[in-house]
Amino acid sequence: AAPDALAAALLAWYDRDRRLLPWRAEPGQLADPYRVWLSEVMLQQTTVAAVQPYFTAFLKRWPTITALAAAPVEQVMEAWAGLGYYARARNLHQCAKTVAQWRQGRFPDEESALRQLPGIGDYTAAAIAAIAFGRPAVVVDGNVERVMARLGAITEPLPKVKPRLKALAAQLTPETRPGDYAQAVMDLGATICTPRNPACGICPWRDACAGRAKGIEASLPARLEK
Ligand code: ADE
Repeated sequence: AAPDALAAALLAWYDRDRRLLPWRAEPGQLADPYRVWLSEVMLQQTTVAAVQPYFTAFLKRWPTITALAAAPVEQVMEAWAGLGYYARARNLHQCAKTVAQWRQGRFPDEESALRQLPGIGDYTAAAIAAIAFGRPAVVVDGNVERVMARLGAITEPLPKVKPRLKALAAQLTPETRPGDYAQAVMDLGATICTPRNPACGICPWRDACAGRAKGIEASLPARLEK
């Protein structure tokens, strides 16, 4: 199938079946960069279910990035307690201070500038650029890698195959609604194209999936044996 048709099918599925999450905007709308950044940093190495109450509490206590920047770092660390990987909380606060002090509380809208900020790597920069600013950035996390490996029946093992998976992800990323598209692929990976027992029968990409056609979807992505 053509990339445009695949993106359209996925967006139609997302409009119907997306997860309702507190940091998401309505389909077709851009989300607040502060919310996108906060949620994406929290979601690194932590599940959506665990993140939700923390996200809501942070937003209530610190409604803007300027408010977060003004908080003592100890309070931020305390509020973070339970989420783990505490370097994330330190970087979060450092990033808030940087954006508040040097950018009047506004995030840059380009991936390259976002990547310069504390705690923002390739994934988070692309996610913010796409979801908050509507840039056609290529957003790739573990979910997306799995979906791409299966869709393309790409059998070379991780981690070497990462550039190929990213190239396929780039081919499919649409110019329209790239943020919704990015979140749709992540939802697909989390709810249908799951690591085990994927629900191929209800997948919007079932007829295009080369992994499914070959019956090898469950074994992908392959991993280099340790
Ligand atoms: N995992 C990380 N970021 C996500 C998002 N924006 N939507 C769904 N799952 C995610």
